[in-house]
Amino acid sequence: MRNSQIPVATLSDDSASTKRQLSFINPEDLDRAWDLGFFYLETPDELDLESARQFGRELIATDSPYRQVPQYGELEGFIALENNQQTKLALRRERWGQHYPAHIAAFGRQLDAIGIAIIRAVLRQSGIPKALWDCASGGYALGGGEAFLNFVHYDTRTPDWGLRPHTDYGFVTILDASAPGLQIEISGEFADVPVLRGHLIINFGEALNFITAHSDRAVSAVTHRVMSQQSSDPVRHGIVYFANPDLDGMLWQFDASGEEQGNSSVDDLFAQLESRLTKTQ
Ligand SMILES: [Fe+2]
Repeated sequence: MRNSQIPVATLSDDSASTKRQLSFINPEDLDRAWDLGFFYLETPDELDLESARQFGRELIATDSPYRQVPQYGELEGFIALENNQQTKLALRRERWGQHYPAHIAAFGRQLDAIGIAIIRAVLRQSGIPKALWDCASGGYALGGGEAFLNFVHYDTRTPDWGLRPHTDYGFVTILDASAPGLQIEISGEFADVPVLRGHLIINFGEALNFITAHSDRAVSAVTHRVMSQQSSDPVRHGIVYFANPDLDGMLWQFDASGEEQGNSSVDDLFAQLESRLTKTQ
C-alpha cells in the first residue's frame, strides 16, 4: 500500500486547545480519514516527543525504578504479559502526577490537547449541536473523561503475535511507534502502516463510532493489529495515548438536530465489544 493512501492532517498551533483546528489538504482526505478511522497527524512543533521517547526507552532497563510502579487493576501499572511480546507502563491521567516525572505528565497534557482538538473536529463534522458535545463525549471534549498514557515495548525475541486484530474501545488513540509492524484493515485486507517520520498515528475507536452513529457524519473504528517483529532492533518502542469517556459514565447518541437516538453505559458498550472479540477469536 502506498503511503499516500493514508490521509495526513495538521493541527494549527493556536495555544488555546479549544481553538486548535485539525485540517486536511482537501475534503476528500478528511472523508477518507473518517471512513478509515485512521490518519497521520504531523507532530505539532511544541510536542516534546524526543524526551518522552527517551523516557520510554529507559523504562525497560532491569534496574529501572518504574518497574516498581504497582498495578492498579488490569489496565494500569508496570505490566509484563506472559502470553505476548508486550511490556508496558500504563497510567490514567489521575496518576500521571504521582508516578511520571513532571515532563512526562506535561507531555500527557499536551496529548490531551491534541485529543481534544481531534474529537472536537469529529463532533463539528457530525453536526451534533455544540451544547451537547460535553455530554456526547462523556466529558472528554471539554477536558474531562479518561485518558491513558502508556509506554509500550514489543520484545521481538519472543515468538508470538505482537497484538491480535482488534478495534480500540475509546474515542481516539494517538500513537508514536519507533518501528513498522502496525497494520490496519482496509476493505477486508490488512495493509502495512509505514512509520512516517515527523508524524503521529491517529486512530478512531468504538466509542467515537457509537456517539456519531446517528449524526450527519459517522466515523469508523479501525481494525488493526501489530505483527510479530523481527527487526534489527529487538525491541519496538511505542507511546500510546488513549482518549476515553469516563469509564463509569454514559454515552449518548445525538443526531444533528440534537435529538437523542440512543445511549449506553460505557460499561455495557465495552462488555458488548469484549464478547464480540471473544467470539471471533
Ligand atoms: Fe489498538
